[in-house]
Amino acid sequence: MTTTAAREHWSSRIGFILVAAGSAVGLGNIWKFPFEAGSNGGGAFLIIYLAIVFSIGLAVMTAEILIGRTAQRNPAGALKLLKGGPWPAVGYLGILTAFVILSFYVVVAGWTVAYIVKLISGTISGSDPDALGAAFGGFIGDPVEPVLYAAFFMAVTAAVVISGVRRGIERAGRVLMPLLFLIIVLLAVRAMTLPGAAEGLAFFLQPDFSAVTTGTVVAALGTAFFSLSLGMGTMITYGSYLKPTENVPSAALSVVVLDTSVAVLAGLAILPAVFAFGADPAAGPGLTFITLPGVFAQMPGGAWLGPLFFVLLAIAALTSAVSIMEPVTAYLIDELSIDRRTATLGVAGAAFLLSIPSSLSMGLWADYTLFGKGFLDLMDFLATNITLPLGGLLISVFAGWIAHDRLCSELNGPDGGVRRFTHVWAILVKFVAPAAIAIILIDGLTG
Ligand code: PHE
Repeated sequence: MTTTAAREHWSSRIGFILVAAGSAVGLGNIWKFPFEAGSNGGGAFLIIYLAIVFSIGLAVMTAEILIGRTAQRNPAGALKLLKGGPWPAVGYLGILTAFVILSFYVVVAGWTVAYIVKLISGTISGSDPDALGAAFGGFIGDPVEPVLYAAFFMAVTAAVVISGVRRGIERAGRVLMPLLFLIIVLLAVRAMTLPGAAEGLAFFLQPDFSAVTTGTVVAALGTAFFSLSLGMGTMITYGSYLKPTENVPSAALSVVVLDTSVAVLAGLAILPAVFAFGADPAAGPGLTFITLPGVFAQMPGGAWLGPLFFVLLAIAALTSAVSIMEPVTAYLIDELSIDRRTATLGVAGAAFLLSIPSSLSMGLWADYTLFGKGFLDLMDFLATNITLPLGGLLISVFAGWIAHDRLCSELNGPDGGVRRFTHVWAILVKFVAPAAIAIILIDGLTG
């Protein structure tokens, strides 16, 4: 095991906030959040989402960062150091989940890169939903092209991770996150000034609580966890590169605020445009790849705003993919003393092999299903609906009951500055988060 003295740290607090926000802001915010809001009652979903994010989300975010900062280790090593017994298993579960998510995340991320190319070259154009749907289905069902895009995306992700904590991950965050904010604000302003945008804005911002069911709440909770990168130890790993003097709750709050702002901005960029051009906001996962290119095709300036939107998605996906790869790499470095280069190449290569069946399940292997799901959907379901919430549940129990005193004293720090927050945090991680997550988990298994 390497000593903590040799561990690399973020260069500053703002560096940490940018990389953690880079992890959180991803396909979950820009691809998933708008279509979840679109199919779950618009503004009502937004209010429930905000309530969850700023209570349970903030509490579990604080717990993960604090565990990492205290232990200065990868997820499995951290739980081993703080408690031992069966607890490192939660870290192993997280590492396994990260590996699985990485394998299918790069497939979808590869599609976003392909769409930049296809929109610029004109291979995909026009606004006929049937033709756009057929083009999307034809592309993702191809046995070769999307696999090559996934390989490309995995290689770029590995290149960042190989360069290390400061020179790779932090530098990518510092350059890409401000760029991402700029692009999304530009797109939101464009969408909101379209004639006919008001209807979409009203849909997104005026809550219709008659549309709310338990399914809405469960969807909001699941989306919040995935979007905040919680439940598998990404934030434990990123927290482990924090210097022991950083104030954790305020850093956690900044990350949650940034992540939520981007989700809301994505809603403001997408839903008004969808309404202005009479498309269906409840189109589901196809909203991004089928509905939006059609919307851009009819929009003044759409010829360059369309590719720019997919550049935005690709940037968001890259900084997230890096944060999905890092816990696995950090585990190999900390616990097995493998060097960073070998560890990263091993993880990227193995995860890419698992990407191949995911990509093929969209075409050639579409008929091979288990529980009615193709390979990619099955991996997504297992990770997002089962192991992420399970990990989040166990991490809250760990922070609330098992290592609570140690973590609370770390949280209070030498100046005792956040005592009031500590009380609220304790209630959230002891009771509220475990109970709420147990509900998503049961729904995920039965739904
Ligand atoms: N939060 C990322 C997104 O919104 C995905 C992610 C999940 C990243 C879990 C790390 C850990 O796309």
